[in-house]
Amino acid sequence: MKRIIEIELKTSVVDLVQCKTQMLAISHFSDARKPSPEIIKLCKKLGGAIEHVVKLGDFKGKEGTSSLIYNNGQIGAERVLMVGLGEQKKATIDTIRKAAALAANKAVGMKVKTLALALHRPFGARFDSGLLAQAIAEGVYYGSFRYDEYVTSEEDGRTDALAVEVILASAEPKAKPGDDDAAKTMRFENGLLRGAVIGRAQSYARTIASRPGNVINPPALAEEAKKLARGTAGLSCTVLDDKQMAKSGMGGVLAVGSGSKTPPRFIVVRYAPKGRAGKLPTVALVGKAITFDSGGISIKPAQNMEQMKLDKTGGIAVLATVKAAAELKLPVNVYAIVPSAENMPSGTSYRPGDIVTTYSGKTVEIQNTDAEGRMILCDAIHYAVKQNCDVIIDIATLTGACIVALGTYMAGLMTNDEQLGRDIEKAAQTSGEKVWPMPSGDEYAEEMKSKIADLKNIGGKWGGACTAAAFLRQFTGEKKWAHLDIAGVDCIEKPTGSATEGASAFGVRLLTTYLINLVDKKGRK
Ligand code: BES
Ligand code: MN
Ligand code: ZN
Repeated sequence: MKRIIEIELKTSVVDLVQCKTQMLAISHFSDARKPSPEIIKLCKKLGGAIEHVVKLGDFKGKEGTSSLIYNNGQIGAERVLMVGLGEQKKATIDTIRKAAALAANKAVGMKVKTLALALHRPFGARFDSGLLAQAIAEGVYYGSFRYDEYVTSEEDGRTDALAVEVILASAEPKAKPGDDDAAKTMRFENGLLRGAVIGRAQSYARTIASRPGNVINPPALAEEAKKLARGTAGLSCTVLDDKQMAKSGMGGVLAVGSGSKTPPRFIVVRYAPKGRAGKLPTVALVGKAITFDSGGISIKPAQNMEQMKLDKTGGIAVLATVKAAAELKLPVNVYAIVPSAENMPSGTSYRPGDIVTTYSGKTVEIQNTDAEGRMILCDAIHYAVKQNCDVIIDIATLTGACIVALGTYMAGLMTNDEQLGRDIEKAAQTSGEKVWPMPSGDEYAEEMKSKIADLKNIGGKWGGACTAAAFLRQFTGEKKWAHLDIAGVDCIEKPTGSATEGASAFGVRLLTTYLINLVDKKGRK
C-alpha cells in the first residue's frame, strides 16, 4: 500500500535570487502597490517575465490564483510560483495557510520534490510570527495530502516526499539572542513545529477517514486507536466491546450497532500530562464514528450513499486532536471519546418503534433508525459527564438539515455556555475552520419529547440540526457543553487549488487550537 507523502520542513536564510530549489513560491496582494526590494531584485533577474505576466493580465494577485515563471538561467530556482493573496484588508491568517496549501498542492501535482516558500513576506508584522509559521506548516500538509493507498498502479509517479524550506527574511535570524528579531525567529521556528504536529494529525485523520467501510469497521477503528495510543507518549486507550457495553447499559450504541455483522465498540483515548494531571482542567472531546451509515431499517436512497463512509469523521477528528495535544505536551487533560457502530439493516437491526434505554437511564422511542448519531452520542456524552470533565465538546456529521442551513462552508455550533461558544469561535478564526452559532434551547427540546418514553429520536419537519442538538443537550447534566455539526464540512466535494477532494479532517485544527488557547489563557492568569 502506498504511504502518505512525507513532509520535511525547515527554515533557511537565503537570497531569493540564489535559492536552489525546484520551485520557489512568492506571493502578492491584488492591491499591493509595490513589491519588496528582494522581489524587485528577483523580477529584474528574470528579465521582466513577472511584469509581463502581470501586464498581460494573466496574474492579478487574486486569492486562490497562481502563475508560473520559468528560470532563464539567471536565478537558482527552476521555477517561480506566484501565489495570489487577494485584497490586503480581507487577509486573515487563513490566507497564508491557503497560499501555502496551494503551493504544496501545485508542487506535488508537478512532481516537484523541493519547495522553497517566501510566501509570508508581504504580511510584514501583521500577524504574530508564531501563528504565521504554524499556518504555513498546516497549509503545506493540507495541500500536499493525497489519498491513494489503494491505487496500485505507479503510473502517475507521485513523489513520496516533499522537502520544504521556509525562507526567513535575511534580517531576522542574523540577530543576536535577546533582541527582538531573534525572539521573533524563535517564535517562528516554534510555530512551524507546532504547525507540523497539527498538520500530521490532520493527514492522519484524512487517511483513516478516507478508508472505506469494508476496511474501517468499529473493531478496526478501535485497533487504530490502540495503535495511536501505543505510538504516542502520554496516551492510553480503553476499548469496551459489545459485551462490556451491555454490562454498562450503553443501550444507545448497542441498538445502532445491532444490525451489523461487525459489532460496535466504545473507544476512549486519554491524554494525561505527565506528573501534573491532577491539577489541570479536563476536556472531553466526543466524536461520532459511524463507520458506515446506510440508514438502517429506515434505509437511505442509493444516490451518494457511498459518502456515508465519512460518517465517522467526528470520531476520527477527536482521535487526531488528542494525538496532537499529546505531541504538543499541552498542560490539559483530554478524553477522546469515540462511540463507534455500523448502521445496517438486517434481521437483528433496531427498528422504528423500539424503545431504547440509554446509558444515562433515559429512554428513547426510535422513530427513524437513520437518526442514529444522537443515539450513540448520548451514551458517550453521559460517559463524559460521569468522568467529571470540566468541558464537553462533541463533533458529529449529525444532520443533513445543518447542510441545508449553512451549506458547506461552516459547521453549526450549539452550546449551553456562552463563554465556551466564544472560545470556540475564537479558535475558528485562527484555525480557519469556521463555525456559525445555532440554537438548541427549550422550544427545540419540546419537539423531542415522546408520549411513551422520555424522548424520541427525531423532531418535526423543520430545524433538524437544532432539534438534534436539543436531544443531545438532555444528556449533558450541569456540564458546559458545545456541539459541532460537521455534516456539511467533513468532505471537500470538488478539488480546489489548495486541496484535493475527499475527507477534510474538519475539527482537528479547530479543536487543537481551542486546547492551545485554553492553556495559554491559564498560563497568563
Ligand atoms: N449521517 C447522517 C447525516 C448526514 C447527511 C451527514 C448527509 C452528511 C451528509 C445522519 O445520521 C442522518 O442520517 N441524519 C438524518 C436525521 C433524520 C433522520 C432526522 C438526516 O439528516 O436526514
Ligand atoms: Mn443516519
Ligand atoms: Zn449518520
